[in-house]
Amino acid sequence: MKKVILLNGSPRVNGNTNYLLEECKKSIEENGVDAEIVQLAGKNVHSCIECLKCAELKRCVFNDDGINDIIEKLKTADGFIIGAPVYYGTARGDIMSAIQRIGYVSARSGLNYLQHKVGGPITVGRRGGHTATIQEMLMFYFINEMIVPGSNYWNIAFGREIGAVQEDKEGIETIKRFGRNVAQLINKLKD
Ligand SMILES: Cc1cc2nc3c(=O)[nH]c(=O)nc-3n(C[C@H](O)[C@H](O)[C@H](O)COP(=O)(O)O)c2cc1C
Repeated sequence: MKKVILLNGSPRVNGNTNYLLEECKKSIEENGVDAEIVQLAGKNVHSCIECLKCAELKRCVFNDDGINDIIEKLKTADGFIIGAPVYYGTARGDIMSAIQRIGYVSARSGLNYLQHKVGGPITVGRRGGHTATIQEMLMFYFINEMIVPGSNYWNIAFGREIGAVQEDKEGIETIKRFGRNVAQLINKLKD
């Protein structure tokens, strides 16, 4: 079964980012692809220290924060979607620490498990910084030879308090359409 991993970079497991990822997951599943949301919440995520140990270990040297478990899931997945809240006009720090390590292990180990995976970033914030956040996360996708389909708007939504994003109907529709496009592309590419 084809599968997409959706990584929630919010510390709030039931927050707005997770709501969007749940909607995206449903849309992916409706289009015949399996999907699983993985949480960063509760993990004390290390940042990359460029020790280059990943070249020999084929995993990250930090083995106590769950990032290696995510890497293992990614090795067999067909898609990878990252969701993160906007913090000070950028993606929340932990998600960038996580994807920098995920990307470096992929490249330096020679395993290149990210290559040709389908996916893209999703972000939610109260008021501003969404497009800069999307662009920041896109850098990870393109340098890792990943394939990013669009939607009929950028993958952004608005809300502050937990649950507030549910009122952003257009944002939710954009994310659902993105999920559909991810699944349809995977179905075409991996048949
Ligand atoms: C430290 C911090 C910085 C934030 N900076 C921004 C910001 O620059 N722009 C914005 O629109 N929202 C900002 N927010 C609001 C969050 O993006 C918003 O509450 C979002 O819904 C959180 O998503 P979550 O429920 O998935 O955690 C910030 C929140 C925090 C805690």
